[in-house]
Formats: sequence, structure tokens, C-alpha cells
Amino acid sequence: SMKRKFFVGGNWKCNGSMHSIKELCEALNAGERLESSAVEVMVAPPALYASYARSLLRDDFAVGLQNCWIGKPGAFTGEIAADMIRDAGFPYVILGHSERRHIPELRENDQTVARKTRYAIEQGLAVVLCIGELLEERQAGKTREVNERQLNAVKEVLSDEDWRRVVIAYEPVWAIGTGQVATVEQAEQAHAEIRSWLEKQVGSTAAAETRILYGGSVTADNCDELAKQPDVDGFLVGGASLKPAFLDIVRSHK
Ligand code: G3P
Repeated sequence: SMKRKFFVGGNWKCNGSMHSIKELCEALNAGERLESSAVEVMVAPPALYASYARSLLRDDFAVGLQNCWIGKPGAFTGEIAADMIRDAGFPYVILGHSERRHIPELRENDQTVARKTRYAIEQGLAVVLCIGELLEERQAGKTREVNERQLNAVKEVLSDEDWRRVVIAYEPVWAIGTGQVATVEQAEQAHAEIRSWLEKQVGSTAAAETRILYGGSVTADNCDELAKQPDVDGFLVGGASLKPAFLDIVRSHK
């Protein structure tokens, strides 16, 4: 919307194999070339397959990762540092996804997500920063408060300039993987509140320029109405990004 370039991300989560990823990349390559002036498209495969997907996909698709370590490389068995993501040629990392915040074995808190965001930006990555409320928080009328709490933690550690490297993804947790997409009114209201938070807490440039994506049960059937909302600047797609119909969601900016 406005002058903000539409952004569509495909978060493949912990899905795929050599075989299925090859098929999916071939299907994505079969679509029309993406007009770089109109839309930016990123897919985030499981880390192990990111280079493979990069080698298969046309260069008008960006490839990113789904998470990274909190700081410098070193003795952190099993982790991948932002330095490495950048060095290996991937421009984006998704941080703060609700699965990383809420799955008991992972449980990243607001400060962890904030420190990761800061370090990734220091290393030159752009960050797709996920925020969003649980069902019980929405039912308690706390949606705005939760979004702002998650954003405030990040604001504490970023300069106003750093926000140019952030794409915000609003993903209400109750809408993720449930088939229960937010209504256009629910999405637009949350996005407008996030934009007004940016205006107050970061500044008018950040408010005007930061893309705010919607995520949670987005499909080819429900994306067009959402894409028309003034504060919806794109999508972060899970399940529907594993199929060729992801391209229909990419086209929803038109
Ligand atoms: O990051 C995207 C995601 O959480 C949404 O998942 O499967 O509801 O589109 P899904």
C-alpha cells in the first residue's frame, strides 16, 4: 500500500525434502518474472536446504533463513550465526516467529528476539520481525498491548535508522495454521495500531516506510481482500507457501 513495496514471504518452517524443494522451486520459476519495482518475494527454507533452494530459484526470488543465533559465532553447538547467513549470501532472516516464542522447547522471550534482531541488523541482514497475540490475549482485549510490548523490546535496542532494515509481520497466533484467517477489519486495525506505534515511538519516516505484513492462514482465496487494506503491505505465508499457489498470493498486490 502507499509507496511501500509489497512484500510476500514464504515461511517453509520445518518442511520439505530434496525432492519436494526441487519441485516447488521449479514451480515457482515457471511463474512470470517478478517486477522488482512492484513486489519483493522471499522464501525461507529450513537452513539445511537454503543453499539448495538458492541454487535452484530464479534470482528475482530472495532466500532467507527462519532464525539465527543471538550473537557472534563460537562455541554454540547447533546454532547458525547472522554473520554466516550474510556471508553465505542470504539477505533476510525471520525472527520472533510465534512458534519460536511459544513452543515450550524453544520459548524465546521479547528480549531474546530483540537481541537477535539487533545483532542480525549489525551484521547487515534485513529482519522479518514477527509479533502477535495469543487467542486468550485477544479475548482479554490485549492485542494492542501485546504487540506494543513485543515492539518496545526491539525499540530499546535499535536506532531509528535500523528500522529501515525491519519488515514487521503481524501474525495473530490463533490464525496460524488454523485455517482461521483474521478478518480484514481485524488485520487492518492491528496494522494501523502498529503503524501508529511506529509514528510515536520511532518517527514519521519509519511509520510511512516500514512494511507491515499479515500472516496467519493466508491463502490464494483470502489474500486479495486483505491486500487492499491500506496498512497491509504484504504477507508472511506458511502452509500455502509450500504449493505453487503461493504465486497467486504474490500476485495479490495487483
Ligand atoms: O510465518 C507464517 C506463518 O506463521 C503462517 O502460517 O500456515 O497459517 O500460513 P500459515
